[in-house]
Amino acid sequence: MHVALTHNLKREDAGEDGSNGSGKPALLDIRSDVAHTGSAPQVKIPPLIDTFAEWDSVETITAVKSALERRHTVSLVEADRLAFEKLATLKPDFVFNMAEGWGGPSREAQIPVLLELLEIPYTGSDPLTLCICLDKSRTKEVLFAHGIPTPPFTVVSVKDELHDVHLNYPLIVKPLYEGSSKGIFDSSVVRTPQQIEIEALRVIESYRQPALIEEFLPGREFTVALLGNGKHLRVLPIIESKFDHLPSHASPINSFEAKWVWDTIDRPMDVLDCPANISPLLQRDIENLCRRVFNVLRCRDWCRIDLRLDAQGVPNILEVNPIPGVLPNPQEHSFFPTAAAAAGLSYDDMINAVVSAALARYKPSSVQ
Ligand SMILES: Nc1ncnc2c1ncn2[C@@H]1O[C@H](COP(=O)(O)OP(=O)(O)OP(=O)(O)O)[C@@H](O)[C@H]1O
Ligand SMILES: [Mg+2]
Repeated sequence: MHVALTHNLKREDAGEDGSNGSGKPALLDIRSDVAHTGSAPQVKIPPLIDTFAEWDSVETITAVKSALERRHTVSLVEADRLAFEKLATLKPDFVFNMAEGWGGPSREAQIPVLLELLEIPYTGSDPLTLCICLDKSRTKEVLFAHGIPTPPFTVVSVKDELHDVHLNYPLIVKPLYEGSSKGIFDSSVVRTPQQIEIEALRVIESYRQPALIEEFLPGREFTVALLGNGKHLRVLPIIESKFDHLPSHASPINSFEAKWVWDTIDRPMDVLDCPANISPLLQRDIENLCRRVFNVLRCRDWCRIDLRLDAQGVPNILEVNPIPGVLPNPQEHSFFPTAAAAAGLSYDDMINAVVSAALARYKPSSVQ
């Protein structure tokens, strides 16, 4: 099968125009599968240290490509403004979609929408689910409507709305539609109205989007990888995030600093426990909860769900990631590959299991 791998290449690897800036072919042939017609789109890159945190590195794209090449012929297609033309020219049989998109709250849906227009089958959730899950407040509203626990919250778009925050401290302030801990710093956990204002205005101004203000859950944190669909949906071994290695002054959260600054490849920290050391009862509750969340949000093929225990020990959903990160180096502590490895799946098996789940979904007899 001819598979196209749709992706967004991290700019620190690529330079603003998508070239690697060094003049060397260090990006393998990452942009060469389809000839570019017209000039590359101009993008304005805001001066933020985490601007491209959610996009993929050359290393990750190469690892996914080589996993797919075990069974298929693979072309790389960057998810930029020429993507429609490239896909229409290439006419792949199938797409492995790991593109985070080019910007805005609907960005993860951009490539799936084009693929639906071109009638090309692809891995992962549809545009509706991708848009809902990227907007953390919309996700929480759907969960709330289905009686699934998620922390009380409010959304603030302008300074005046800060007067209407009636939640119990401590709180956490996050960008409404980001991932990879973008905009979530150690200072995001707040205990006073002044701190809320500082953090909310930082989010609104720096990330040009509303701030989600949510009650802080004090309990243990887990993330759960799911693979498959319908009766073949598998919950992979549960991962616990551990915070005891963080500096003593740090908030016990997966902040940008915790994920990308304090835990490095050179100085890896013991940050994950997988399978999590939990009672069989809690394990069963979390697994059942995550299956419900996957189905309620109509996720497809794979996803990763973050949750945390409240003060009473009840699992509450924080957010849902229908395009999970898959960093290949085990020392980078990427959640989905860690859970897959604990389930006995190699990196390549994991990627191909996502493809198999998607292909089964497209069989005429199956309705998902
Ligand atoms: N309500 C909360 N209570 C306690 N901790 C929280 C809460 N919301 C977020 N956190 C902490 O902040 C981290 C990042 O939050 P969240 O998962 O919403 O962001 P994200 O950027 O979408 O994450 P990802 O990297 O998984 O895409 C969580 O893993 C958790 O440690
Ligand atoms: Mg998360």
